[in-house]
Amino acid sequence: MNKANLSVFASGIGSNLLAIHKASMDKSFPGKLQLVICNKICPAFELAKSLNYDTKLISNLDKDKFEEIAHQELIKKKIDLICLAGYMRVLSPKFVFKWKNKILNIHPSILPLFPGLNTHKKILLNGVKIHGSTVHIVNERLDSGKILGQFAFAVKSNDLDFLIYNIKKYENLLYPEVIKKYIWTFLFKEDKFLNYKNIHIDNVVFSY
Ligand code: GAR
Repeated sequence: MNKANLSVFASGIGSNLLAIHKASMDKSFPGKLQLVICNKICPAFELAKSLNYDTKLISNLDKDKFEEIAHQELIKKKIDLICLAGYMRVLSPKFVFKWKNKILNIHPSILPLFPGLNTHKKILLNGVKIHGSTVHIVNERLDSGKILGQFAFAVKSNDLDFLIYNIKKYENLLYPEVIKKYIWTFLFKEDKFLNYKNIHIDNVVFSY
């Protein structure tokens, strides 16, 4: 089966990286993870190395330099799709233009609500009763590209750690599914996955 070459950009713990890795172990997953890029030493970087991925640490550089090096690495590896997974540096419009429609991001809020940082804190501070995450195409404006998939659940406690735990648990289910669908529909131009899926897992609503 023809597979798209994937790169993950990460700066954090790496739970979404791990979820993509696990999904890609399945023969029917249409992507192969070829390159992990981190902008700092972080658990995701250590995880990628321990999983034997080609892992590049591009740190202590200004954005232009970082993106120039990242771009060359991506070209070298013939990357078809970049998945931002807890990558905490905003990409420049120039970089996004070069990789137009080939960068996905997972953001911990139900976009277009709460773009930017500290979404969980903002949810709790404002007493927001529904929270979730969004997978979207990255465009030149922060957290505002086309939405590909979301999940939502009721916020039942003020415990920040519990909220983050739950967000990641369901992100780890959503992101690989959306990547799979995007590769089939956008990269491979197959129409068999075009229909929206609306499913419930543990009272969490997923739509993608
Ligand atoms: C995830 O919750 C992701 O949505 C968020 O960082 C976390 C990374 O977790 N991304 C952003 O905030 C991007 N603006 P992970 O390192 O365990 O995958």
